[in-house]
Amino acid sequence: MGQRVRIGQAVAAGATGQELELRGWVRTVRTGKEVTFIVLNDGSSLSGIQVVVSPGLANYEEVSRTGTGSALVVRGTLQPSPAAGQAVELHATAVEVVGPSDESYPLQKKRHTFEYLRTIAHLRPRTNTLGAVFRVRSFLAQAIHRFFAERGFLYVHTPIVTANDCEGAGELFRVTTLDPEQVPRTEGGVDYGADFFGQATGLTVSGQLEGELFAQAFTDIYTFGPTFRAENSNTARHAAEFWMIEPEMAFADLMDDARLAEAFLRYLCRQVLDGCGEDLEFFNRQIDPGLIQRIEAVASTPFAVMEYTEAVERLQKADVAFAYPVQWGLDLQTEHERYLTEQLVGGPLFVVNYPKEIKAFYMRQNGDGRTVAAMDLLVPKVGEIIGGSQREERYDLLFRRMEETGIAPDALWWYLDSRRWGSTPHAGFGLGFERLIMYLTGMENIRDVIPFPRTPRHAEF
Ligand code: 4AD
Ligand code: MG
Repeated sequence: MGQRVRIGQAVAAGATGQELELRGWVRTVRTGKEVTFIVLNDGSSLSGIQVVVSPGLANYEEVSRTGTGSALVVRGTLQPSPAAGQAVELHATAVEVVGPSDESYPLQKKRHTFEYLRTIAHLRPRTNTLGAVFRVRSFLAQAIHRFFAERGFLYVHTPIVTANDCEGAGELFRVTTLDPEQVPRTEGGVDYGADFFGQATGLTVSGQLEGELFAQAFTDIYTFGPTFRAENSNTARHAAEFWMIEPEMAFADLMDDARLAEAFLRYLCRQVLDGCGEDLEFFNRQIDPGLIQRIEAVASTPFAVMEYTEAVERLQKADVAFAYPVQWGLDLQTEHERYLTEQLVGGPLFVVNYPKEIKAFYMRQNGDGRTVAAMDLLVPKVGEIIGGSQREERYDLLFRRMEETGIAPDALWWYLDSRRWGSTPHAGFGLGFERLIMYLTGMENIRDVIPFPRTPRHAEF
């Protein structure tokens, strides 16, 4: 099909006079008396390119009647454009309608709500907003790998099917080949011995435990993969399937962890500003005024740090009627997190040293006997974007904590082993990839930053 030139690159190069062949899908068609204007988009840029088609073309009739959504191959020359908002346009010498479309195509000119677009998730990547979201998403995924590659972190693929519930919250989706109509049973209940893996398994909620094992061999590692949580919370920030980035560092404490998280987030802010200009300007204009300024500020200002205990005191003193109670020992709710980061600090905030009762079994116990070396990074609009901790590296304390929290040490013998030989102070965190994208685009619903969202009762596409 000839040389593959993408529309975004052709427009950016702006080499007028050049003969080009471009391919894409029709966003709009305007047919005047003398000429037809087609905006063609191939996903490489937000704006696409304006194609000017004159009646001299052999198949002008067909082309001028072509519908929004149809697929075209267009040959022509790049010319300076007299129209505002675009430097160049393509004067067509030949247009081939490869895949026609008609009025039944759901994405005609008018604006659609994000709710409606979710019902046509198979088509919404062809809209401006979702197109920009998924370009930014792809760019960020690559930037994340660059960040860790530049720092010598090993990229490890942790398993998706697992027998452990890392967070201990009982949110595992079951993985089984047992016939639900005829579940084999023993005295004690379901006979998982007869199941595919010979034990109960599920989809991973986190790659952390396996990541820790690799950190004990490679020092600095990260995972970046899908995670699954069967939490039945229908919020704009929770998905049942989401992607998480989890670095883990041996010979590191909580503050090393916080420093890495800060450098990471600031790097990604800088990258997205430098690499996604057109899309960010679109979000800044259409979705979230002030977005670019906010990202600029985050990229250039040190993050605040606050003890959980102080955060609770500040919340109690706040002149705000919260829906959920604030009390030492209770977890912070999104409304509290947002107050702290938006009203109190006006930027990203690490809250550190949480009560051990509300955190996972693996976090390092502090000397005070009641808190653990946990850190959550809170950001405006989104709330918690990162959760991390220094890990309990002392065998006896870890063992006891497992018993206290109802985690069977037998099943995690291999995890405990990492504390038997060459145990090191180590720390890591998890960044929710979708929350990051929400933060950097201003999109307010997690369903609109993941291609095919999985939420309670939704897995159609
Ligand atoms: O705070 P979480 O549960 O921490 C962990 O899973 C640790 N094992 C991470 C680690 O230390 N290696 O989750 C980490 C982040 C959250 O801060 C949030 O951004 C995101 O994952 N997250 C979700 N994102 C979308 N939908 C959900 N249901 C999420 N649950 C957590
Ligand atoms: Mg968390």
